[in-house]
Amino acid sequence: MNEISALNLLDEKLQILNQTKLPLVEEYILTDDLERICESIEKLEVRGAPAIGIAAAYGFALSFKLKSELNDNFIMQVYSRLAKTRPTAKNLFFAIDRMLKVAKKSNQSNIYHNLIEEAIKIHKEDIEMCNKMGENGIEIFKKKSIVLTHCNTGSLATGGSGTALSVIKTAFYNNLIEMVFVDETRPLLQGSRLTAFELEKVGIPFKIIVDSAASHTILTQNVDLVITGADRIASNGDSANKIGTYNLAISCNYHKIPFYIAAPSSTIDSQIKNGKGIIIEERSNSEITSLNGNEITKSKYNTFSPAFDVTPNSLISGIITEKQVFRFPYKFV
Ligand code: MRU
Repeated sequence: MNEISALNLLDEKLQILNQTKLPLVEEYILTDDLERICESIEKLEVRGAPAIGIAAAYGFALSFKLKSELNDNFIMQVYSRLAKTRPTAKNLFFAIDRMLKVAKKSNQSNIYHNLIEEAIKIHKEDIEMCNKMGENGIEIFKKKSIVLTHCNTGSLATGGSGTALSVIKTAFYNNLIEMVFVDETRPLLQGSRLTAFELEKVGIPFKIIVDSAASHTILTQNVDLVITGADRIASNGDSANKIGTYNLAISCNYHKIPFYIAAPSSTIDSQIKNGKGIIIEERSNSEITSLNGNEITKSKYNTFSPAFDVTPNSLISGIITEKQVFRFPYKFV
């Protein structure tokens, strides 16, 4: 398998593949600096809910590499800085909450060692969950299928082979995928830049469409099902994912084809009852008014740029996790 890796721990530094430059340039950032890692998350140099969580876990650990004096204030400063990078992905908080627990139980002599071990554990668990989602997802394919997906949910978005893209790849290796339509995913083009790049690497046939072509494609191109990832899933199954996902779920329901989500347990937020409790990140004007640093409309124009939307549970045919495929009414225990 020709997978690409978003993150690696190299010589006690975090190596981040700069996803803002893909697919035209493959450039890496090598750092052990917390501020640089936070900036990477904020700028989407590393992105995708599970990958953000793993980057944050390594960032947490590396902050203690050269720390000669341990104090609770510093632990909380590291936690708070990471917590304010991006609000929506549950995986970020899943990871830093685990790191905080380990930090609080450690002492000066073992804290760095304990934190690095925990970060590696979070990373390894994610790889395992990706593989399991791929295997569990096989059951949603009734025949060799034409699939449509949104954003990027593959090895660039996770520690392993992906969420929705892991399901697609596993199905492809089982001769269950004919073609994948890839939403370009405005404004930051995670579909046309990143998903296309990943599908090309593993040899899965695909066509990129503009987001506004999705319903027409579903109606006219024999799309059998749509599958996406999620950034945070409420206890009742309402799921936040990249802006435009809700449109797809509505379109699938209208056209009577299944709409699936694939996400690891680390994306499920058992503390919130429904989607109303999910904080939706808003991005800057310039991500809409500019493309690759070039203005495409007047930068003074006002924009509304939610990075995510919430799909209500009733529109979701199933949620594929590393445990099983859950069905409505959702109960993740
Ligand atoms: O803004 P991004 O690129 O971090 O958004 C990513 C997504 O919306 C993915 O679909 C989501 O994280 C789930 S896939 C791992």
